Amino acid sequence: MLDLGSGGGIDVILSAKRVGPTGTAYGVDMTDEMLALAQQNAREAGVTNVHFLKGVIEQIPLPADTVDVVISNCVINLSTDKATVLTEIARVLKPGGRIGISDVVAEDHLSPDERAARGSYVGCIAGALSKGEYEAGLEGAGFEQISVEFTHQVADGMHGAIVKAVMTSEPAQKGLPVIQPAASAGCC
Ligand SMILES: C[S@@+](CC[C@H](N)C(=O)[O-])C[C@H]1O[C@@H](n2cnc3c(N)ncnc32)[C@H](O)[C@@H]1O
Repeated sequence: MLDLGSGGGIDVILSAKRVGPTGTAYGVDMTDEMLALAQQNAREAGVTNVHFLKGVIEQIPLPADTVDVVISNCVINLSTDKATVLTEIARVLKPGGRIGISDVVAEDHLSPDERAARGSYVGCIAGALSKGEYEAGLEGAGFEQISVEFTHQVADGMHGAIVKAVMTSEPAQKGLPVIQPAASAGCC
């Protein structure tokens, strides 16, 4: 499995225990500080089937068709190039691979400017995709069984959400996202 924007590594460490000794859990993060913290946390947790890689989620440092499951918590909304992130997830997933992502998602009626305005006081949400943009982007990247489920409101028309989907088992159908990313965000 692969965690995008793994931070201190907690989700990678928990996943390493779930995939068992024959599986491997990868985390990708762009900051040396977070990678060092994650490695320290993994040592203290006594897990060895983990690898923390330096890189950006817009250019995932793993080969194509190598990952069974991609997870991410509160990171994709921070990217200024979400279309590329979805394409990269599709590239590294094996056919039939799955995603389980926690993210901030906007209701479809909110314009990018309205999302940015809400981000100015809630933080971290200004660049969120809308539900329809997420679904269209995933479909364009070759995902099936797409579900974007709001779990809790974080601002007027903006929600924490669980995003699930399955990569097509037809590799030739891995396509390009068709989303128009909204304005960039701050931090969550
Ligand atoms: C809000 S924290 C979330 C960390 C972790 N997922 C968690 O739930 O605790 C965001 C993390 O994503 C990383 N990050 C943000 N944008 C990134 C990008 N474009 N590529 C790689 N890492 C990124 C940051 O360095 C930070 O560690």
